[in-house]
Amino acid sequence: MARVIFSGIQPTGRKHLGNYIGAIMQYVAGQERGEPAIYCIVDLHATTVAYDPAQLRERVHDTTAILLAAGLEPERCILFRQGDVAEHSELCWLLTSVTALGELNRMHQFRDKSAAQRELVSAGLLLYPVLQAADVLAYRAHEVPVGEDQREHLELMRNIAERFNTRFGAGTLVIPEHRIPEVGARVRDLQEPERKMSTTGGSEQGTVYLLDEPDAIRRKFKRAVTDSDDPPVLRRGDDKPGVTNLIDILASVRVVSPQSVEQELASARGYGDLKLAVGDAVVEALAPLQERYRALRPDQQGLEDVLAAGADKARAIAAETLADVRAAMGVGRDRRANGRVRGWV
Ligand code: TYM
Repeated sequence: MARVIFSGIQPTGRKHLGNYIGAIMQYVAGQERGEPAIYCIVDLHATTVAYDPAQLRERVHDTTAILLAAGLEPERCILFRQGDVAEHSELCWLLTSVTALGELNRMHQFRDKSAAQRELVSAGLLLYPVLQAADVLAYRAHEVPVGEDQREHLELMRNIAERFNTRFGAGTLVIPEHRIPEVGARVRDLQEPERKMSTTGGSEQGTVYLLDEPDAIRRKFKRAVTDSDDPPVLRRGDDKPGVTNLIDILASVRVVSPQSVEQELASARGYGDLKLAVGDAVVEALAPLQERYRALRPDQQGLEDVLAAGADKARAIAAETLADVRAAMGVGRDRRANGRVRGWV
């Protein structure tokens, strides 16, 4: 059976190593397996907190160029901008009817983000996970590659889909499953390893951006916080978040197991060797991405063309789901005659 893969990513040029290891590497791998693999740059989600309209399209272009530079190929996957496919907004509204307000209020990301807002806590911030559910459910996706921080949103999405099917018709929506990598699902801040690496919440020195200069990357790893074990102990463990993070990052970018990294470093004298090795490995892994990014980013028209072609393909799939959802809910004129979707006449 065809397995549809779907994931979404926020538009920004400041994508970091956590996004890369937790998500983008899995997107590229999904391109081989997905039938189809669909990736969406979520500009509508970006409007739920304060933002600059003039910058939003620039940021979408930044992210598009990063994803293409990381290895997504428009011939082998569907890459598009959420705001180009109106079905996402419509399905979001329709799904609010099977979403409990209490569930939305309890979401950790809503609580954190609303506490961080200085002015308006928008209703959009509360509805953020419903739009995220609409993103995935519109494509009847089976698999959603994400990092650990999206687990709660995925659970909510499954509840929404199940409730919809129970209320309006079994089998209308597919119940999606998350795909969270075993290693690298929660890359930590290099300065504060008890926290996840993050664009908004983390420290500048502890966050490795994909477009950082090689020297800056090496410097950030050199200064990474480890621990005061004496003599140094080069192994993973819950009691060693800083060292575990460095070992996991090294293993992820080399695409080897953390155990093999631990064995390799068994004879190292201190944490310095680990920091050097991971800094070099990340610089090496990101070099081709950075080079391709520099070539792709100036061609705004080329990037727009990729997004427009992706949106056409995405819309064709989402429109079918929406026709079924509208029919199941009794909303609007029934456009399915003899089981076929008909255009307006
Ligand atoms: P965003 O743009 O914040 O993050 C994109 C992806 O990166 C993962 N990630 C991490 N993985 C490992 N370690 C980290 N420190 C780390 N930080 C971020 C995230 O888990 C994510 O997979 N709400 C989503 C965007 C979205 C979406 C969707 C995702 C909108 N609609 C539908 C999946 C399906 C977000 O803010 O991603």
